[in-house]
Amino acid sequence: MDTTLILFKPDALHRGLAGRLLSRFEDKGLQIVGMRLLTLSQEMAAQHYAEHVGRPFYEGLVGFMTSSPIMALALRGPEAVTVARALMGKTFGIEAQPGTLRGDFGCSKSYNLLHGSDSPESAARELALFFPDGLEDWEPIQSPWLWDKE
Ligand code: RTP
Ligand code: MG
Repeated sequence: MDTTLILFKPDALHRGLAGRLLSRFEDKGLQIVGMRLLTLSQEMAAQHYAEHVGRPFYEGLVGFMTSSPIMALALRGPEAVTVARALMGKTFGIEAQPGTLRGDFGCSKSYNLLHGSDSPESAARELALFFPDGLEDWEPIQSPWLWDKE
């Protein structure tokens, strides 16, 4: 089982989409093992987006991400990183396929609703940043119907 970090960005909360977005991950069979509503500090945003320092969109991205609350989620399931990225779709809503979250809910480049870890290594780093006290380890009652044994 993998665990991935998903962020609902400020636009998702302003647009009242948190519940609908979360439902799609639950529908797919990903389990909530961590959840936080928080406003990102400059320092935390800089740590989270360290790989993008120097890119033309970096300052705008950090400004946007620190502008109002976000929701951080730790979601677990088989290949959760890959599964979540597939559900989200391509980075920009204009290019994202209909049926994906970004494809269905937006057509902005700057405001693309969600972040999802791009590899298990990134997920481990990002989960430690957002959930320093660890995650909830629990067994969903429907897990035998959702997940293969191995
Ligand atoms: P994310 O990290 O948010 O899950 O998105 P991603 O992997 O699909 O995209 P990434 O390349 O990591 O870019 C991080 C975020 O930066 C913003 N961005 N804006 N205006 C632009 O050209 C541009 N390029 C990237 C987006 O908010 C993207 O999600
Ligand atoms: Mg990324």
